[in-house]
Amino acid sequence: MDISLVKIRKCTAYDLGEVIKIERSSFKYPYPPPVLYNYLSSIFLVAEEDGKIVGYAIGDNERNIIVSIAVHPDYRRRGIGKRLLESVLEKMRGTVYLQVRKSNRDAIGFYIKMGFVKEKILKSYYMDGEDAILMFKRIN
Ligand SMILES: CC(C)(COP(=O)(O)OP(=O)(O)OC[C@H]1O[C@@H](n2cnc3c(N)ncnc32)[C@H](O)[C@@H]1OP(=O)(O)O)[C@@H](O)C(=O)NCCC(=O)NCCS
Repeated sequence: MDISLVKIRKCTAYDLGEVIKIERSSFKYPYPPPVLYNYLSSIFLVAEEDGKIVGYAIGDNERNIIVSIAVHPDYRRRGIGKRLLESVLEKMRGTVYLQVRKSNRDAIGFYIKMGFVKEKILKSYYMDGEDAILMFKRIN
């Protein structure tokens, strides 16, 4: 389907069920539902295609971080992640940071394409001992 038919809008409590499904199909260690629920007051956007939620992204304006982004596995590499991240970044200012697992080549490739730069390695950042890469992008 045409990417221009994908609508980016604010996530509501009603959307969380679908967001949780995408979260579970995208991450080995998904955020628990109450954590996602608490981010409803942050910059929490969903991508909707033909009435179906196909991706989401969360930005935290207070900590200036991208909290999470995921696109349903069947809908990747079609520009949906790019539109979601751009829409979140439009609502943020200054230097925006994010952490990504060192092994997550897909996401690292995506973030580099989106203009993020590697700052440093955070040793054993995750509970399972994996390192994180800290990345940032300056927004005007
Ligand atoms: C990262 C993710 C959100 C990207 O979403 P997406 O909708 O597939 O991304 P887009 O189609 O908008 O990609 C935009 C550009 O980013 C780059 N990119 C995207 N996926 C990539 C990959 N797997 N490898 C290398 N570059 C990639 C490409 O340059 C792409 O443009 P192109 O398709 O024209 O080459 C998606 O892969 C995902 O949900 N991954 C699982 C969850 C995850 O790891 N989230 C990040 C946690 S830190």
